[in-house]
Amino acid sequence: MTHVVTLIPGDGIGPEVTKSVVEILESTGVAFDWQRVEAGAAVFDRTGEALSIDVIEACRRNRVALKGPIGTPIAKGFQSVNVRLRKVLDLYSNFRPVKSLPGAETHFGALDFVIVRENTEGLYAGLEHEIVPGVVTSLKVVSERASLRIATWAFEYARKAGRKRVTCVHKANIMKMSDGLFLKCFRDVAVNYPDIEADERIVDALCMQLVMKPGQFDVLLLENLYGDIVSDLGAGLVGGLGMVPGANIGDECAIFEAVHGTAPDIAGKNMANPTALLRSSILMLHHLGEAEAANRVDAALGQTLLSSPVRTTDLGGSSTTTEFTAAICEAIQKGPAAAV
Ligand code: NAI
Repeated sequence: MTHVVTLIPGDGIGPEVTKSVVEILESTGVAFDWQRVEAGAAVFDRTGEALSIDVIEACRRNRVALKGPIGTPIAKGFQSVNVRLRKVLDLYSNFRPVKSLPGAETHFGALDFVIVRENTEGLYAGLEHEIVPGVVTSLKVVSERASLRIATWAFEYARKAGRKRVTCVHKANIMKMSDGLFLKCFRDVAVNYPDIEADERIVDALCMQLVMKPGQFDVLLLENLYGDIVSDLGAGLVGGLGMVPGANIGDECAIFEAVHGTAPDIAGKNMANPTALLRSSILMLHHLGEAEAANRVDAALGQTLLSSPVRTTDLGGSSTTTEFTAAICEAIQKGPAAAV
């Protein structure tokens, strides 16, 4: 069977890491029909449109997309393409496993927890107004529907994955109505899952606890902005932004992308670590029902990190993206016999 997948290379290091991942996936023997479309800052500069209806339709039609990072202008310019794609395709769950890999040095040893971020509202609603010159408001939107939906998703995931606890992260001591509603919905859903422990943390305390003792967490459920921030914190715990994958999942469609951005400081230098997008593609392979290939790619990545001197600069090595990609393709070709 050939899997038709929308491919959005994106900006900055996006084309480099997507090229790497496509090469690795092709080396598994799984058949893909990559339908490549452009979105982002580079295409905006050329056409005046960062996200065309054709890109949205390609994601909708194929139902699965692999996406590189896309740049968003700071304090000016077009609205985030990432946020628009998530909203318009109703990709309400942003799933980000934070798992340390063998061979990637970290301060905390083996970690394995998951971030589930509400992906469609909160402060990302983009409702900002200048009330009078010098005074601006930004509205945080929290709806009962979206909060119940994401809490249910988190508990369902926890049950399927054999995880034991879901921790709702909030600031309901200050935002009593908005975060209060998010928390209430979590509590309402939690009663339907007596087999899973329901736990609550205020977001600032959670950040401290994640840095001090991250091993205590299992599934973290967060609204949009806290999920964004805590994801990068999580990436820092397991070797950096080059390591952490992600998936934007809705009922009709899913877009797989790394947590990291366009990394302008290393773009075009063949230095980017493709691991985060590769691990996103492993999630994609599972989503496509290609568990065997997913496990082979995962094993090849693990072997390469553990037993090969080939590693990118963010992991303390000096290899290029191309060399790292070739090493993983080779490990896939050799198969499990090469395992250490
Ligand atoms: P960033 O994630 O692009 O970079 C932060 C740091 O991590 C940089 O030092 C970078 O070199 C490093 N890094 C990131 N990914 C790496 C990789 N794969 N290998 C090695 N090093 C890596 O964050 P920044 O600089 O805040 O954002 C740059 C742009 O990316 C912004 O326009 C932002 O809006 C956009 N962005 C897009 C996202 C997406 O498309 N989903 C997510 C996050 C940011």
